[in-house]
Amino acid sequence: MNNEKTVNVLTSFENIKEGMVLGEDVFDKNHRLLIAKGSALGITSLENLKKFSSKTSFYIKMLESKVNIKTVVEFEDGHTEEVLAKDINMNYTRERLVVKEKFEEMNKSIKKSFDELSRNNTSTEVRKELDKTVEDIKKNLSVNIELLNEILDVKEVDEYLYNHSLNVGVISNLIGRWMELPQKDLDILLMAGLLHDIGKLRVDPQVLYKPGKLTDEEFREMKRHPEHSYQMLVEMGYKDPDILKAVTFHHEKEDGTGYPLKLTGDKITLHAKILAIADIFDAMTSNRVYKARVSPFRVLEMFQNQNFGKLDYSIIMTFVRKFTEYYVGSEVILSNNKKAKIVSLNTFELTKPLLVTTEGEFIDTSRNRDIQILDFEHQ
Ligand SMILES: [Fe+2]
Repeated sequence: MNNEKTVNVLTSFENIKEGMVLGEDVFDKNHRLLIAKGSALGITSLENLKKFSSKTSFYIKMLESKVNIKTVVEFEDGHTEEVLAKDINMNYTRERLVVKEKFEEMNKSIKKSFDELSRNNTSTEVRKELDKTVEDIKKNLSVNIELLNEILDVKEVDEYLYNHSLNVGVISNLIGRWMELPQKDLDILLMAGLLHDIGKLRVDPQVLYKPGKLTDEEFREMKRHPEHSYQMLVEMGYKDPDILKAVTFHHEKEDGTGYPLKLTGDKITLHAKILAIADIFDAMTSNRVYKARVSPFRVLEMFQNQNFGKLDYSIIMTFVRKFTEYYVGSEVILSNNKKAKIVSLNTFELTKPLLVTTEGEFIDTSRNRDIQILDFEHQ
């Protein structure tokens, strides 16, 4: 929509509103990354800024032309008011905000259940809560571009486990739909995606949140999380073997180089193969304490090149095809700092589409290989 430059404006906490985008990395009092630059601020992140940062003003991204000017805004009841442009929520469409709110609600209920699990409470009560959350998510799952954008949105690092669990559930379910699997399988994918990493709550937090490289021993401990997840599901009374297998096998690889059982090919269930792809996709496109996010197009290319170990290639191809189809017509940011729109896909190389820049210049990224798509322009 806009082709204007954004600038960072120092804004006092009181003037920061939901939906605004952070223009700087914000650290907590212990110098740990609290919220990454480029994050859209939601209710939880605003609370975190207030609680955990020692600063009272923050850099917020604004459209250059809107800085320090007053704008007349018409409200729903018809009255007009002159407000400072910095008070206008300019980053999201209404539909996007609805999806965003739903995601925040779901994240909150997941967090509640996960907090119980981290206190080692694996009672049937917790299971009931989780089942209820899954039912809520099912009702709210309509595939559209806002849903994909929300999954790809930059989130706060400290909320990673909840966000990641929700995203893997939603992406796995999406891949299942794109493969035209029956409803029963879609339900399994959502549930298993949501629960695949709960075993991490039994991994020593020193290891789980260690920002640097893990030692061999620490990595061995980390690799036990699928078994912990299985154990916790059994304790809660989950009996569906498809869900149990999907969760336990989500780090297995086609050639037997995965863990914990080193299963190969057909021994790995379809649900687990889908979960593995959704898991890596979400992890790679998210900011973490120890790494910055990678562009979704780049991650899709890496899947095609089997850079993450051997995963099921036919699932990868469906994922890449459907995902790229969804983004035809979307705006992207290029490695030469220009913005462009995806015009059409190249059938032979789906991750190298034809683009048109805002100046009207056509770029075939399959030929002009120096230019890469860095990110989607989230509107
Ligand atoms: Fe995992």
